[in-house]
Amino acid sequence: MSPSDVRPPAEPKIAERDARRMEGRTALVTGASRGIGEAIADRLAAEGATVILCSRKEPGLVEARQRILARNPGADLRVEPCHVGHAHDIVALFERLDAQGIVVDALVNNAGTNPYFGPMMGAEAAAWDKTFDVNLRGPFEMSRQVARRLIDADRPGAIVNVSSIFGLRAAPLQGIYGMTKAALISLTRTLAMEWGGAGIRVNAIAPGLVETRLSSALLASDEIVARYNERTALGRPAVPAEMAGMVLTLLSDAASYTTGQVIALDGGWLIG
Ligand SMILES: NC(=O)c1ccc[n+]([C@@H]2O[C@H](COP(=O)([O-])OP(=O)(O)OC[C@H]3O[C@@H](n4cnc5c(N)ncnc54)[C@H](OP(=O)(O)O)[C@@H]3O)[C@@H](O)[C@H]2O)c1
Repeated sequence: MSPSDVRPPAEPKIAERDARRMEGRTALVTGASRGIGEAIADRLAAEGATVILCSRKEPGLVEARQRILARNPGADLRVEPCHVGHAHDIVALFERLDAQGIVVDALVNNAGTNPYFGPMMGAEAAAWDKTFDVNLRGPFEMSRQVARRLIDADRPGAIVNVSSIFGLRAAPLQGIYGMTKAALISLTRTLAMEWGGAGIRVNAIAPGLVETRLSSALLASDEIVARYNERTALGRPAVPAEMAGMVLTLLSDAASYTTGQVIALDGGWLIG
């Protein structure tokens, strides 16, 4: 398909503008058992998407599904365990989805890890491998699995990668993590260029400090939180739900002419 064949979505009729924004869409959210991923899954379900909840551990996913269902009665939520750092797990996941006739047209690469906190000089190869496998190779493989199927079916779609402000600035004591998040931005831009002609948009968000389990070590330090708050225009960390609205927008037709972008959701940290 050449870029000139790609048409923007038709102008919605007035009644449709009020319709739920993800009706008829199938979203897959990695790292959906808690934190930012659960908040995103919740928001997409509220907007009518079928949502596939993915992370390593099934019990956590089942609990997240119950919480999301309680807030969104009748939502169509599937649970699919998958370790995104293991390529064979990703292949098996998409084989299971194929067998059920499920085609994902909205992917959120949110699962992430940060196993080493300390200076680069002391970083071990195992931490490098794990961080790159989960934070970078996972989104790369997941995105290819989704895009291959959409291109074969001649269908549009959208992908959002969850990067970090530490992918845009130096990340002292979180250097390997920061490198993976910077590379994820590069991946976002390249895939946006390569797949734009097929109607697949690829964007990223770069959260600041968000109150989750992943950031609990940072949040436990009064000094780190005070320094963050001082530099941040809004003067506070975020809660996970504050990440979900922008992801919804980027996945929906509201962002039909937006691709290859990195949107900072940082309360103004980067301008500080
Ligand atoms: N919190 C922040 O301040 C902050 C800031 C910037 C960016 N981020 C990014 O936001 C994303 C979500 O983080 P969070 O703060 O919400 O963390 P979180 O609350 O610790 O949640 C992490 C999620 O990822 C899943 N996960 C971890 N390793 C996985 C793997 N190998 N395969 C599949 N799923 C895996 C976890 O579930 P299982 O244990 O079941 O696998 C869990 O659902 C990450 O990419 C993180 O880098 C967070």
